[in-house]
Amino acid sequence: METNMPSLLKNFISTFVTLVLSMTILLILENILENQIHRGSHEEHPKPRASWLGDDSKLLNLKNFKYLLNNPTKCGREEEILAIIIVTSYEAHIETRSAMRRAIPEQELERLRIKRVFLLAVAPETDKYAISQDALINEQKRYGDLIQGNFIEAYRNLTYKHIMGLSWAGKYCSHAKYVIKMDDDIVIDFYKIVQMLNKFQYNRLFFAGYVFHGMQPKRDPANKWYVTYYEYSKPMYPVFVSGWFYVTTPYVAQQLVNTGRFVPYFWIDDVYVTGILMKVLKWKHSDIHEIFTANSAFLECCIRDFKQYQYDCDVAVGPNGGDAELFVKFNEALSKCRFHNSSESIPCHSRPLGKELTKTCVAEFKGFPLGNGDAKIEDYKLF
Ligand SMILES: *[C@@H]1O[C@H](CO)[C@@H](O)[C@H](O)[C@H]1NC(C)=O
Repeated sequence: METNMPSLLKNFISTFVTLVLSMTILLILENILENQIHRGSHEEHPKPRASWLGDDSKLLNLKNFKYLLNNPTKCGREEEILAIIIVTSYEAHIETRSAMRRAIPEQELERLRIKRVFLLAVAPETDKYAISQDALINEQKRYGDLIQGNFIEAYRNLTYKHIMGLSWAGKYCSHAKYVIKMDDDIVIDFYKIVQMLNKFQYNRLFFAGYVFHGMQPKRDPANKWYVTYYEYSKPMYPVFVSGWFYVTTPYVAQQLVNTGRFVPYFWIDDVYVTGILMKVLKWKHSDIHEIFTANSAFLECCIRDFKQYQYDCDVAVGPNGGDAELFVKFNEALSKCRFHNSSESIPCHSRPLGKELTKTCVAEFKGFPLGNGDAKIEDYKLF
């Protein structure tokens, strides 16, 4: 027995050493692989990231966060999902939600393997347009597509809402291929966007939107988007994308939420989420600004020109200009253009040279090119 001890010890040590060595090799391999995935489309290495926690009781620095309305099974578990659309919506905007549901009904979303939820908060007591919680509960019973946080609806709380949406998508819809974030007063050419999704070069760091470079904080106290030096001290915002509409992935959504735990709150939500947090992660955006317009008049021109000349529309994202029904009208008209083999389809043509939207629409709609856009447009965002 005595003489066996050293050999046992030796055995033990050699097994231990082998284990440690193989684990080190595995870790190194994993790191190399990670870096290669990231290098595929981005030059810089991302920082090491905290693992995804998905804790529903935490939302940035908000204490006692919770969902007042939720639908955890919206995305199912196994189902293949092309995209989850998260729509930031003011709780009282029943018309815009209704318009979106009518324009693209649930069966249509189902067919395309797309899910859609609306992100709400709680109306302040002073809001005379607020709708009651009971009405929201009924809306939820009927459509099952509301996600409501227990914080107060306010411009300065939009960052909470935005992160809530990403957190929800990262947790309850992590198996979707894409996450689409949009606002409820934005019109999108739904079928064109779906076509685009199918053509995108997918990777898990995908992030595409209207990219802004060199935007400066508004320092004029009269401006709605006035930012104090205390809130944001630097002369320029990092590169960010418009929160009107962007496309990313559940992985990016998760990492943005995690990163937000360590980065001080800033209330301009798209700057914070798609600019400041993306910069910390060192991830880059793809620019798809050519599909955006800042003027709802362009979308109206598109509807008219489709009906008259079967012209396709050059733009696929724009504001509704205060008309909730524009979402319905636009998609009703242009969807005919997208299905060439259905009986209802009308083949449509790209606009001929000289008939570009920017030329033909300008003549009719005074005030274009955009001074400040529609009254409802949040002016800092596109100009
Ligand atoms: C944002 O929400 C928090 C939590 O509900 C609330 O205390 C705060 O007053 C809200 N901010 C604004 C500007 O209304």
